[in-house]
Amino acid sequence: MEIIKVKNYEEMSRAVADLFIAQIKQNPKAVLGLATGSTQEGAYDLIAEACKNNEADFSGVTTFNLDEYYGLTPENPQSYRYYMNKNLFDRVNIDKSKTNIPDGTAVNPESECERYEALIESAGGIDLQLLGMGHNGHIAFIEPGEELPVKTHHAYLTEQTIKANSRFFTKDEKIPESAFSMGVKTIMDARKVILAVNGNAKANILKKALFGPVTTRIPASLLQLHHYLVVVTDCLD
Ligand code: GLP
Repeated sequence: MEIIKVKNYEEMSRAVADLFIAQIKQNPKAVLGLATGSTQEGAYDLIAEACKNNEADFSGVTTFNLDEYYGLTPENPQSYRYYMNKNLFDRVNIDKSKTNIPDGTAVNPESECERYEALIESAGGIDLQLLGMGHNGHIAFIEPGEELPVKTHHAYLTEQTIKANSRFFTKDEKIPESAFSMGVKTIMDARKVILAVNGNAKANILKKALFGPVTTRIPASLLQLHHYLVVVTDCLD
């Protein structure tokens, strides 16, 4: 595990963006695993800027997002598809047909999960997967529990996650209680993983995840077993 200690959100965003830009330069046909959340917004801004300045070329890139709320249409401003279009895809020269996110409106959740896993496999797997972390140590929507799902699945969110993510919803909007999410194997199969975590509120859980025992109670702790993990954080001294 490599830990890049940064001073603040801006430095974290710069470091994450640079890792992505380097990946695309090294392999213009890279398959990128993407995450949503406030943690990633700064990095996406910098990646978009690099693309505008011709320092990054997304024309050959394929992407797979970690997760999507169940029941939300792509046009819903709370959907992760909407977030990705707004924060990244609409700002870079990517072919939208190569951007993949689970379909939140799928009628048959089980076959949607199978379709998504098969799609990742047919793209040759993920070269670089970006992850954030929830306050309870979740990654994607893999919530703490006695056992963790292996592959892309239909996940029920914990109260804590629903509460944490409610800040993005207006008072009248119903917050989804479930989502599609990659599983542990889907993520661990990525050739490289970047975990970006910022803010004091996550310092404690991050320390447990990185330096404590590996436990399904803290899904991010499983990343200790990944052979190529880069952690970018302002949470550690
Ligand atoms: C959601 C997403 C996660 C993300 C987490 C943290 O639950 N499913 O992928 O890591 O939020 O979000 P934030 O970066 O806003 O703290």
